[in-house]
Amino acid sequence: MNSSPIILVIFGATGDLMQRKLVPAMYRLLKRKDIGRIHLVAVGRRSLSKSDFCTFLYDALKKNVLQIDEILWKQIEEDISYIEGHFEDEKTYAAIKILVAKADDAYKACVPRYFYLATPPVHYETILKKLAESGLSEGCVTSNIQQKRGENIGINSTKILIEKPFGNDLSTARSLEKLLSSIFQEQQIYRIDHYLGKETVQNILALRFANGIFDPTWNSEFIDHVQIALAESDGVGDRGAFYDGVGALRDVVQNHMFEMLAVTAMEQPHAFTADSIRDARIEVLKHILPVDDAMGQTVRGQYQGYLLEKQIARDSKTETFFAGKFLVDTPRWNGVPFYLRTGKKLKTKVTEISLHYKKPVCTGDVCFFRPDDVMRNVLSLRIQPDEGITLRLMVKEPGFGMRVTPTKMEFCYAQAFGSTVSPEPYERLLLDALRGDQTLFARTDGIDASWSLVTGILNAWEFSNQSLCSYKGGTWGPKESDDFIQKDGRAWFLGSEA
Ligand code: BG6
Repeated sequence: MNSSPIILVIFGATGDLMQRKLVPAMYRLLKRKDIGRIHLVAVGRRSLSKSDFCTFLYDALKKNVLQIDEILWKQIEEDISYIEGHFEDEKTYAAIKILVAKADDAYKACVPRYFYLATPPVHYETILKKLAESGLSEGCVTSNIQQKRGENIGINSTKILIEKPFGNDLSTARSLEKLLSSIFQEQQIYRIDHYLGKETVQNILALRFANGIFDPTWNSEFIDHVQIALAESDGVGDRGAFYDGVGALRDVVQNHMFEMLAVTAMEQPHAFTADSIRDARIEVLKHILPVDDAMGQTVRGQYQGYLLEKQIARDSKTETFFAGKFLVDTPRWNGVPFYLRTGKKLKTKVTEISLHYKKPVCTGDVCFFRPDDVMRNVLSLRIQPDEGITLRLMVKEPGFGMRVTPTKMEFCYAQAFGSTVSPEPYERLLLDALRGDQTLFARTDGIDASWSLVTGILNAWEFSNQSLCSYKGGTWGPKESDDFIQKDGRAWFLGSEA
């Protein structure tokens, strides 16, 4: 337990993220006593009294937590302040400063402050600049004596947490990074991609490096191809205004899907440190080859009825489905395609990574089993839901002959450990940021690499006027997506469906 208090300033405190993810995460961390005390400074544009805001948060919490501990909630309420203010208004920052100074005074110490940008990205620049102008980004002032000792209280006492999307293309991502790094040092910046906080994504490393059997075959000698699916059954819902300017490629491929690809394809880190692990992940992103044939390597789709959704341009060409083939140019993955597919309004919500092994080789003319008689072994890592791992194996059919048939070996998290033990990604990420562990956060060079790839695809689409294929909701996307993988002699696969 970390009993030291912290100040958490959340911009966008009345937004969706706060209600669905951040309040439950804070509550659970406090309940488990992972954090001693959070002084929440909630900044929002809605006109609410403190008591209105607390009711609003309580209602949000009720939707996510089965039984609220009322005594704990009373304590949490005491530590909440709500500032109604515009992000460009200096008064907002003056009000934050007063609350921060009050906390420092009360504890007679420099209370660490965390600034969380949970607003739509259009506000990032304004808030960052205002944090700098108001001096809030500097944290506590370092005395001369401390400076001589090489201590910098400012850096140690202030951190910034920022949600994806980090930019809208390579150039906007770079200007955001430039601004961020002109105000904060890298060790103060926590860029959140919540997929990295998922227990099952972290388990990929455990599976691979804690078991002698996987890593030796985790390469092009044994693996034919890899598939990563991030399928959603919902449409864009109330997020039309945001989504229509973004599309599937920017919304989830540039970040969540490339991070999953990186965790799957990375080399073993040199050390168990945040830097080594991030280095290994980012090396992968830097080695994904640019897509030079957008037409042959990608499919864009839009679900039927999208144009009738709320806040969507009636002639929108935004893709709600993406499929793509990527190659990782490292000796380990030489020639192994990574197929990515994602979409809204697909048949079910499922995220899965599957490694498709090569079929057994025949020695000379002798084939114990002919390639046509066997199916590939497939290792499926089910990221969500029904978190677990399955391995497709060929086994002998019972009887006197020697015929083989596919079967599944299965590991299920909930059965093995109970369904409630895994921390939610935001619990994990919030706690890691408070502890100063950057392992599971995106880094500027990785963001640059992934935006380079995505921007290349966006430009190629625009240049070639790439067609937008239509698909019916509740299916697996456009027919063109099946044709796309079939022309390589492969088929889309989901372990959960096989
Ligand atoms: C978000 C995207 O980053 O991830 C959403 O903006 C998407 O469009 C969501 O729905 C998916 O996250 P999860 O954890 O529900 O798979």
